[in-house]
Amino acid sequence: MKKLIVAVLASSALAAPAAAETGKVDTEAYVAEANAIIKDFMTNLKGELKRALKNEGPVGAIGVCQEAAPAVTRDVAAKHDWDVGRTALRLRNQDNAPDEWERKVLEDFIAQREEGADPKTLSVTKVVSSDGETTFRYMKAIPLAEKPCATCHGTNVDPDLRAEILKRYPQDEAVGFEAGEIRGAFTLSRKIN
Ligand code: HEC
Repeated sequence: MKKLIVAVLASSALAAPAAAETGKVDTEAYVAEANAIIKDFMTNLKGELKRALKNEGPVGAIGVCQEAAPAVTRDVAAKHDWDVGRTALRLRNQDNAPDEWERKVLEDFIAQREEGADPKTLSVTKVVSSDGETTFRYMKAIPLAEKPCATCHGTNVDPDLRAEILKRYPQDEAVGFEAGEIRGAFTLSRKIN
């Protein structure tokens, strides 16, 4: 799993845009930075998943998701300016539960897709100020790909795999997704002053 973490850290070392010294938030620069982190996260997680599915089979690969995703999230949060996570309405891991804003955004993403929007294009930013601190927040929809995602989140999950998932996540709600449906979203934030 080291490789995954290193790649994400490397991408988040991109030049941070100047903080809101001018009183203006450089949304475009923050979004570019967030997207670079997401791209690396996704590329590496998908690569690890595909390898694990091939070498260990789906049941063994569950460990990749279970350990890798939270490890990356913790590492990035501890060492860098960005908090990085994944959230969803139908959860596998309750630790990924959305806050109030995230819930509304997820509902909105799903509604937009139902109205015909391409889920790959759905993202939203928000600047929050409280107690003299300003935080930049960003969410980007995660559509479910047939491969490899549907193996563990799709409509036809193998019964042995389903049993193993339920052993680790007894409250799992994250199955039954069709390809192209919105599985959840990346959620990133960083303090900007
Ligand atoms: C080998 C099985 C497996 C595959 C394949 C898989 N996942 Fe997961 N997924 C999991 C597990 C296990 C978790 C819970 C991870 C945790 O504990 O944080 C999870 C969590 C998630 C979450 C976080 C929200 C939640 O419900 O906890 C999202 C979003 C997600 N997966 C999307 C995807 C996408 C998109 C793909 C395809 C690129 C994918 N998954 C492929 C097993 C899998």
